[in-house]
Amino acid sequence: PDLEKFVADLTVPDTIEPAGTKDGRDHYEVSMQEAKHSFHPDLPDTTIWGYNGQFPGPTFDVQRGQPISVHWSNDELPSEHIFPVDTSLPAQQGEPEVRNVVHVHGSNVDSIDDGHPEAWYSPSGDDTGAYYAGDTYQYENHQPATTLWYHDHALGANRLNVHAGLAGMYVIRGDVGGTEKLPSGDYEVPLVLQDRTFNADGSAYYPGPTLGGIEPSIVEMFFGDVSTVNGTAWPRMEVEPRKYRFRVLNAANARFYQLALKGYDEETGELTGEDGPDFVQVANDGGYLNEPVTLDERLLLGPAQRGQWVVDFSDYAGESLLLHNDASTPYRGGNPARENQVPLSDVMRFDVQDTEVEDESSVPNRFGPLPRLGDATSETGSKPVPELTEDDAVQERVLTLNETTDDAGRVLLLLDGLRYDDETTERPTVGTTEVWHLVNVTDAAHPIHLHLVQFQVLGRQGFDIGQFNNSGMIQPTSHVRGPRDQEQGWSDTVTAAPGEVTSVVAHFGEYDGLFRDITGLYVWHCHMLEHSNHEMIRPMEVDPEN
Ligand code: C2O
Ligand code: CU
Repeated sequence: PDLEKFVADLTVPDTIEPAGTKDGRDHYEVSMQEAKHSFHPDLPDTTIWGYNGQFPGPTFDVQRGQPISVHWSNDELPSEHIFPVDTSLPAQQGEPEVRNVVHVHGSNVDSIDDGHPEAWYSPSGDDTGAYYAGDTYQYENHQPATTLWYHDHALGANRLNVHAGLAGMYVIRGDVGGTEKLPSGDYEVPLVLQDRTFNADGSAYYPGPTLGGIEPSIVEMFFGDVSTVNGTAWPRMEVEPRKYRFRVLNAANARFYQLALKGYDEETGELTGEDGPDFVQVANDGGYLNEPVTLDERLLLGPAQRGQWVVDFSDYAGESLLLHNDASTPYRGGNPARENQVPLSDVMRFDVQDTEVEDESSVPNRFGPLPRLGDATSETGSKPVPELTEDDAVQERVLTLNETTDDAGRVLLLLDGLRYDDETTERPTVGTTEVWHLVNVTDAAHPIHLHLVQFQVLGRQGFDIGQFNNSGMIQPTSHVRGPRDQEQGWSDTVTAAPGEVTSVVAHFGEYDGLFRDITGLYVWHCHMLEHSNHEMIRPMEVDPEN
């Protein structure tokens, strides 16, 4: 269907309130439900699966240092999926069509509360995965204040569950010096970006073609042709000519967004050629930065990446601005001229009111102090982001992202040539630092996510893929580039572009009074959900010291 853009107003997901208290902590009840959702006034209502029936799910808004528990119930979901299920995937063989488990992405939590992909349970409760740990989880919320998100993580199935709508934002607030003056209240706005495709009857489309003789089959990736933000197709938002703070989350299955604000002529529906305001980044995946940074290139968000950006609309009173995306599909690392199968340049529109307003908000020059664990009043040694360095690493891992074919002849993307069921090879010891070099020999970029930890991006170096395939040698073709401006601070998902070695440094435990020593079983994976549902996911076990 041809949907008119920018007719529906942006809405903001509700904030969920605790249902009560349990064992001295706030307790929340969430039920996954099939529901009808309106994405656009001209589109019939769409059947979705949402946490509490909402698309996206309600936002958790919790205080750092205040633990909560959440009961994630799926017993109201049907036993048949709304999208085609590939029963050839190992995780799906002999298992129920509908399986769910919730992961709070970016959280530093115990293994049994992480939403391990094999901790799933069926709506009837009769079937459970190998690591099932009940359906009530504890979240300590001790990590630095930031924007996390929660989504379905059932092994081999969450591309369908997340696409159906099982995703929402999880905000941890805390007293980080400097944040008090940032735009807040009505001027602090979540933007959950997702692409979807709709059938004429309003139903959401997700492919299930015949591939390699398997029908329906998983696809290599899926890109929708409609931009949705907070569950509205191509919304518009009226803003005052002042500063706003946006918490932006890429919750798409496979699409990267590469964003800029552009002058837009409402009458003609064309770009004016004028640039809009800059993005001033104050936080990324894992918390506030030491110092805000004004981005001088587009804002790049791979699937699962997020952060906080301040935008000052004060010079644009009476004008319209388009949130413009030029990332190719698949994303290959930055050149918009390259192949773009399903372009989605228009994301949403901002209409700046033609008025004058007072704006008392401001962006500080630096953030801090950030109180350390168990020491809420400490003012020392308390930069939000203490630097992790390569020199601290006791282990360096060289891990390839490579492409092959599965038994049916379908494209198969793997981490270090291994499948999910292969023996666990990434076994860091708690309390140690490691450097992971991600060597991407495929022809697309992959957003690589480690559970449990927040890491720091060290940089990237180009190398010769042909040479690597012949000899296994990494022949550099460029100098090491440091992290992009927007990659300062703590990240849990990093974009690994083709033909580059992307290096990150992670500490598996408490670090300078941040995070905790936690051992147990987790996973690391590509966050293009079609990839992680088809073997681009590996176990990771944090071992105790011996
Ligand atoms: Cu966003 Cu393994 O998750
Ligand atoms: Cu991938």
